[in-house]
Amino acid sequence: MTRTNKFVRMVKRPEGAPTPDIFELDEEAVRPLEDGEFLIRALYLAIDPALVSRMRDENNYTPGVQPGEVMQGNLVGEVIESRNPDVQVGELRRGNMGMQEYAIQTDPSATLVVDPDICEPRLHLSVVGTTGLTALLSLEKIGQPKAGETVLISSGGSSVGTIAAQIAKAKGCRTVAIVSTPEKAKKMIADFGYDAATHYRGRTVEDLTEALREACPDGVDVYFDNTSGDISSAVIDVFNMYARHIVIGRMAISHLADTSKDIGRRDNNALLVKRIRKQGFVVFDEASNFPAATKQLAAWVADGSLIVKEDILDGIERAPEAFFRMMDGKSDGKQLVRIARTES
Ligand SMILES: NC(=O)c1ccc[n+]([C@@H]2O[C@H](COP(=O)([O-])OP(=O)(O)OC[C@H]3O[C@@H](n4cnc5c(N)ncnc54)[C@H](OP(=O)(O)O)[C@@H]3O)[C@@H](O)[C@H]2O)c1
Repeated sequence: MTRTNKFVRMVKRPEGAPTPDIFELDEEAVRPLEDGEFLIRALYLAIDPALVSRMRDENNYTPGVQPGEVMQGNLVGEVIESRNPDVQVGELRRGNMGMQEYAIQTDPSATLVVDPDICEPRLHLSVVGTTGLTALLSLEKIGQPKAGETVLISSGGSSVGTIAAQIAKAKGCRTVAIVSTPEKAKKMIADFGYDAATHYRGRTVEDLTEALREACPDGVDVYFDNTSGDISSAVIDVFNMYARHIVIGRMAISHLADTSKDIGRRDNNALLVKRIRKQGFVVFDEASNFPAATKQLAAWVADGSLIVKEDILDGIERAPEAFFRMMDGKSDGKQLVRIARTES
């Protein structure tokens, strides 16, 4: 049986903010498997902000995509053929297999087997996958929020941010979101139970600091930093003594051609005087904790204590559109692309 693989290619690196002309849709026949290989048919693709840094030739914690290659992307998919003794047809697997309908894989350890019994397979791309694991494990390891403390979350409407907010709230913390617009700020309070929310778009660093003083009258004990850049500069003056600053992501500097220039060294004075602990977090370092954390997250989804929102477009052709929806903050929940429902 000859299959055709439709995929998204990154034809060139972005100069500044990514633009639609960096992507091209292409297709080719799926070649027969060789010994040791297995074939995945993609079910869902996750559109993750981390893709932006993978497009650039810069220091990162995972290797980037080269111009001309299939664009990277996390998939959950079904093994439909296998010539690898360690991989069974019918297994579900997730991992960075690219923006494509079919992916030929060789290394079973490069993808994780997904248990369809603990939740819907696509949730392994969000709440019980990297997204939820990042929120839960970074709070446990670095943030360590205690009842009564204030937890401030930039990109407070992101999937990671909304899950972190709900976990912190369940621990008895006051939760505060920073998002792009006043409308989105209101929605955060209504949808995810934030105690307060404010916006960054159109504000100077000083204006945002003032807004944060109002939103966080008792100061900030844990800053869950999804953005870096100017948004994070605005937080410096509202930190409490012994605050914890978890560096999770770089959304606010993702438009810069070289993000290494603007990670911000403006906070040393506050770090010193207030004994603040600032630490980067990369979820892949926590692999030994994934099984227990995955079960915990799935249990919270099942008993309704975690609200999960997803925004799903249909067809690999819409992956570039989905990418720019995510970049523009227009996705209403984790941005996914449904590629195939079941094997045919
Ligand atoms: N360190 C790790 O191991 C790890 C693992 C997974 C994810 N992450 C990071 O976690 C963060 C959230 O990921 P996610 O998958 O949850 O994201 P997501 O659900 O796709 O949400 C992305 C959000 O980013 C915001 N955004 C877009 N452009 C922005 C800009 N220029 N400035 C500020 N905010 C902007 C948008 O919200 P607004 O409309 O409010 O701007 C958008 O809703 C990202 O920084 C990601 O890289 C880190």
